[in-house]
Amino acid sequence: MWFSGKIREKAMPFLGVAVVLLLSLASPASSCTEQERGALLGFLGGLMPGGNGGLKVSWVNGTDCCKWEGIVCSSDGTVTDVLLASKGLRGVISSSLGDLAGLKRLNLSHNWLEGSLLTELVFSRSIIVLDVSFNRLDGHLQELQSPNPALPLQVLNISSNLFTGHFPSTAWGAMKNLVALNASNNSFTGQMPSSICTNAPSFAMLDLSYNQFSGTISLGLGSRSMLKVLKVGHNSLSGALPVELFNATTLEQLSLPNNFLQGVLDGSHIAKLSNLTVLNLGSTGLSGKIPDSVGQLKRLEELYLDNNNMSGELPSALGNCSNLRYITIRNNSFIGDLSTVNFTMLDLRIADFSMNLFTGPIPESIYSCSNLVALRLAYNNFHGHFSPRIGNLRSLSFFSITNNSFKNITNALQMLKSCKNLTSLLIGINFKGETIPQDETIDGFENLQVLTIDDCSLVGKIPLWISKLAKLKMIDLSVNQLSGPIPSWIDELGFLFYLDISSNNLTGNIAVSLTKLPMLLSEENVAKLDPKFLELPVFWTPSRQYRMVSAFPRMLFLDNNNFTGTIPPEISQLKLLDGLNLSSNSLTGEIPQEICNLTNLQMLDLSNNQLTGAVPSALNDLHFLSTFDVSNNRLEGPVPTGGQFHTFSNSSYSGNPKLCGPMLNLDCTSAATNQTSTSRRHNLRFALIIGITSGGLVALALLACFLIARLAYYDHTENVVPLRSRQR
Ligand SMILES: *[C@@H]1O[C@H](CO)[C@@H](O)[C@H](O)[C@H]1NC(C)=O
Ligand SMILES: *[C@@H]1O[C@H](CO)[C@@H](O)[C@H](O)[C@H]1NC(C)=O
Ligand SMILES: *[C@@H]1O[C@H](CO)[C@@H](O)[C@H](O)[C@H]1NC(C)=O
Ligand SMILES: *[C@@H]1O[C@H](CO)[C@@H](O)[C@H](O)[C@H]1NC(C)=O
Ligand SMILES: *[C@@H]1O[C@H](CO)[C@@H](O)[C@H](O)[C@H]1NC(C)=O
Ligand SMILES: *[C@@H]1O[C@H](CO)[C@@H](O)[C@H](O)[C@H]1NC(C)=O
Ligand SMILES: *[C@@H]1O[C@H](CO)[C@@H](O)[C@H](O)[C@H]1NC(C)=O
Ligand SMILES: *[C@@H]1O[C@H](CO)[C@@H](O)[C@H](O)[C@H]1NC(C)=O
Ligand SMILES: *[C@@H]1O[C@H](CO)[C@@H](O)[C@H](O)[C@H]1NC(C)=O
Ligand SMILES: *[C@@H]1O[C@H](CO)[C@@H](O)[C@H](O)[C@H]1NC(C)=O
Ligand SMILES: *[C@@H]1O[C@H](CO)[C@@H](O)[C@H](O)[C@H]1NC(C)=O
Ligand SMILES: *[C@@H]1O[C@H](CO)[C@@H](O)[C@H](O)[C@H]1NC(C)=O
Repeated sequence: MWFSGKIREKAMPFLGVAVVLLLSLASPASSCTEQERGALLGFLGGLMPGGNGGLKVSWVNGTDCCKWEGIVCSSDGTVTDVLLASKGLRGVISSSLGDLAGLKRLNLSHNWLEGSLLTELVFSRSIIVLDVSFNRLDGHLQELQSPNPALPLQVLNISSNLFTGHFPSTAWGAMKNLVALNASNNSFTGQMPSSICTNAPSFAMLDLSYNQFSGTISLGLGSRSMLKVLKVGHNSLSGALPVELFNATTLEQLSLPNNFLQGVLDGSHIAKLSNLTVLNLGSTGLSGKIPDSVGQLKRLEELYLDNNNMSGELPSALGNCSNLRYITIRNNSFIGDLSTVNFTMLDLRIADFSMNLFTGPIPESIYSCSNLVALRLAYNNFHGHFSPRIGNLRSLSFFSITNNSFKNITNALQMLKSCKNLTSLLIGINFKGETIPQDETIDGFENLQVLTIDDCSLVGKIPLWISKLAKLKMIDLSVNQLSGPIPSWIDELGFLFYLDISSNNLTGNIAVSLTKLPMLLSEENVAKLDPKFLELPVFWTPSRQYRMVSAFPRMLFLDNNNFTGTIPPEISQLKLLDGLNLSSNSLTGEIPQEICNLTNLQMLDLSNNQLTGAVPSALNDLHFLSTFDVSNNRLEGPVPTGGQFHTFSNSSYSGNPKLCGPMLNLDCTSAATNQTSTSRRHNLRFALIIGITSGGLVALALLACFLIARLAYYDHTENVVPLRSRQR
């Protein structure tokens, strides 16, 4: 060669270009063929004008297509790769790609392509890797009519499209080389394809999760199966776990959550899958015990058995799974003392034992899990004292013991304050009838964002140490017997946007300091909130769960106390407030006109007070209002009409004999009128949290969808717990 290497190329790039030009002129064999160029231009022609991802710049007819963006050729100039993931492509996948006779890899993932997936591509004689995941392709996948022996396809990813219909079954006969098939997140129906594994001896990965497959799990696994990953969660599969599944001893990930399976986890079967790292059988309907042989799964890192009908004690052999990182057995009927298991697992990060029938103390061995980030023991019958060793849990960020039988809240807080990384602390429904510590020695908790100490019948005043929780965003002290006023320091909590002090014995006025909570004043303040994900979702109603604190609605619950005086007009400053509940107090005076400035409001409950005067007609400017109640006051005059107000029933106004209007079937000109009152208070909170998150704000609705999709694992708690309890 007359040129020598890299140095010159770097020093004089123009010379390099010249060389390339020279070379391509001199050796036409290394440029693509006219036919290939035509095939690619055909593909470009299938894209919409604004949706070609800028390909037109380099994809110019007459130039060597081996140099076009996203194209790779072999040394002899054959187009082997078309790699156009995430280019913002819109349009259809042209059949002309089928003319690329040497194409080995086609990656069009993460675009906006629509239309059908062509049989020519799936059953191509050359393609090894075909990835069209994350597009909008639809239609049915076709059966191959005359199976061609041994197609080269190894990887097929059609995940996250809009495909429907039955999944092909005979087509796989030709796919002798298939290694990985991902068809997750479509709308396929019918039986699972049952012959892939038998046909393809190297088949290792099958993901059919998030579809509508029904029938039993049938894989036709041969005894020489190489299957490593099987994911068929979030379908409608039924029946027992097939015995053949446990012959797939190469399995590393078995993930079948959210199906309608039955039966038990057989000890001798599960022990055969000794290479398992992920076992996910959550929300499947499984019953029976966790077999002792689970301890033989030495590589197990993630175990999900949540939302099942499992029972019995945990086998102590579970402690042999020393590589566990994630365990959830939430919402079963497990009994006994957790201390039977040695949880000295250095990698354990997330552990959820909530909603079972466990008794006894928190197992000492948990305190050696120095990497533990989230621990949920809620809704059991744990008791006992907290050990000072809890301070070893330096990474602990989420800790929930809601609804157990723990005693001595002073001690609990003294111990927990040494967990410096705590951001969410949920300890309600414990400590019955104790006094909330006022103690100045309760300090620390400097990272706390969520604190719930609800339903403990605690007595005492709202303590000063709460004012030092500078990062607090949500606090729930409801259903206690706290007395005294709303503390004047409340507005020092610069991030607080959810305050529930309802159902206490608080007195005094609606403090003006409440109307200065920075997070409720302006969007600029809200922008400072960090959108951190919670380590475990918080369940605020049985079916509603939050993975992000900032997704919660902004609420003030002051209802069911003994507040007196008037509603301060300064309330108008809380421009971002989503919900305000002042019901069942002894408030007097008029409803301030300024309340009509709370334009975000979706819930307003002023019922069961002694309010007088008129209902401000400007309330019909509150376009998001979906829950409204002023019943059982002493209001008079016409009720507002128009706007949202045609949607509220007359029970929103009942118990105000002097109110009138078409809604109440009372002509405002007629004299004394009276109504019967109905107390709807008890259903109101539940309704409004649902209403607020699903209605009104599109962003919240989208977020809810995202959360539901992301967390559907956890979500089978409907009808399992009583409605009135919230955090778990
Ligand atoms: C590309 O150029 C060739 C030769 O000039 C021509 O025959 C062909 O039709 C062109 N293809 C497209 C898609 O314009
Ligand atoms: C396709 O490209 C995307 C984005 O680069 C990549 O994440 C994905 O792994 C590729 N698909 C295959 C099968 O290699
Ligand atoms: C599609 O699935 C294949 C096989 O599992 C995988 O290698 C590839 O990364 C996936 N593509 C994307 C975009 O995730
Ligand atoms: C499982 O494998 C054993 C031998 O390895 C074989 O005898 C048995 O038939 C297989 N069971 C199923 C259901 O495939
Ligand atoms: C388990 O994994 C190891 C190492 O990855 C491998 O050597 C062994 O063959 C696997 N066992 C089975 C039954 O596949
Ligand atoms: C628990 O396991 C650890 C490490 O395996 C061991 O050091 C410790 O002694 C065990 N504790 C008990 C109570 O058996
Ligand atoms: C505490 O939390 C911070 C922020 O999330 C993190 O960077 C740090 O590693 C955590 N500390 C421990 C000991 O886990
Ligand atoms: C509660 O704990 C505190 C601090 O650990 C202790 O001083 C106090 O005696 C305990 N109270 C009861 C009733 O056990
Ligand atoms: C509520 O406070 C009042 C007055 O302070 C008191 O008389 C009453 O006993 C308290 N009720 C409860 C349940 O603590
Ligand atoms: C409200 O306060 C009054 C006067 O302090 C008291 O008589 C009454 O019992 C209190 N009501 C409740 C529900 O605590
Ligand atoms: C209510 O909002 C209007 C318009 O934004 C403003 O002019 C008025 O001053 C506000 N009233 C109060 C009391 O904040
Ligand atoms: C008011 O209520 C009383 C008792 O329920 C009833 O007898 C009377 O007819 C009502 N008056 C009007 C005007 O509805």
